[in-house]
Amino acid sequence: MRDGRLRSQPKRQEAHGRSHPGLSLKRFADEARFFKAWVEKPMLTGAVSPSGRFLARMMARYVDPSGRGPVIELGPGTGPVTLALIQRGVAPERLILVEYDAEFCKLLKRRFPRATVVQGDAYDLPGTLAGMLTEPAAAVVSSLPLLTKPDPDRLRLLGDAFQIMAPGGRFVQFTYGMISPIPRKARGVEPVEYVAEASPAVWLNLPPARVFAYQAAPEGAVRKLRPAEALIGKIRKGTGRMKEEFKERTDRMQSEIRLATAKAKQDFGGRRNKNHNDNKPPPALALLRKIGEARRSPKR
Ligand SMILES: C[S@@+](CC[C@H](N)C(=O)[O-])C[C@H]1O[C@@H](n2cnc3c(N)ncnc32)[C@H](O)[C@@H]1O
Repeated sequence: MRDGRLRSQPKRQEAHGRSHPGLSLKRFADEARFFKAWVEKPMLTGAVSPSGRFLARMMARYVDPSGRGPVIELGPGTGPVTLALIQRGVAPERLILVEYDAEFCKLLKRRFPRATVVQGDAYDLPGTLAGMLTEPAAAVVSSLPLLTKPDPDRLRLLGDAFQIMAPGGRFVQFTYGMISPIPRKARGVEPVEYVAEASPAVWLNLPPARVFAYQAAPEGAVRKLRPAEALIGKIRKGTGRMKEEFKERTDRMQSEIRLATAKAKQDFGGRRNKNHNDNKPPPALALLRKIGEARRSPKR
């Protein structure tokens, strides 16, 4: 389902800022809509309430409004991030909003009539956006609840986003976790080399969140990683060699100890036999015997 981008825009679209008199009522209505969506489809909605404006602004900060090409938003919901992007200066005509939920799509069309609303699956970008892009996208901004999806789906999504973006384009994602919600590797997915930048925590959001901005690793960065990998390989080899040397040394020491023990036994046995042959006890034994005899003899 697509919305024409060239329709005239009512004044209401720009009136989403803080100054709108019905703002708290609107916010309350959005909270209610969101909560309803969450009750019906918790894994899809991924949060009980829309993102707060501080988080939405943090997301928007990673998008250069003066760039060329469309800005694709994944999972816009009721539109707080969409609004932050527009307030940052991204022209609404550049926005392509990919949302799964039909009710949210209706609302988005009403609120952002100059943007393009696509009802579809954001995890299938090539299918959902087929034939829509006439030039590479400048950025992909996602509020998808990534952590409800397995690693391969998340990494594949990032790889697909890199495919439709111009070089240097950012994939912007928020998360309630403290670590990157996108893995480096996943089984069955072509490797996706990326560099990631994390924002400071947005404590004023409930729950506190963080934004990650991913860019395809430039050639140089990938090459720079290679020597690091080579170094790790060398360290591993070195550690292996050290282990072998250590084993060799301990083996050698053990056999030396065994030889020395055998020799000592032999020497001791030889001396005992010699003493036995002389019919004389070894000196220590003779001393003990003397002490024993002295104890047994009556006191004077
Ligand atoms: C955590 S909410 C974020 C909504 C909004 N951007 C915000 O910040 O308040 C996730 C949104 O992603 C949408 N969504 C989840 N899975 C999706 C999918 N596969 N394709 C498109 N949208 C999806 C949900 O319907 C919901 O609107």
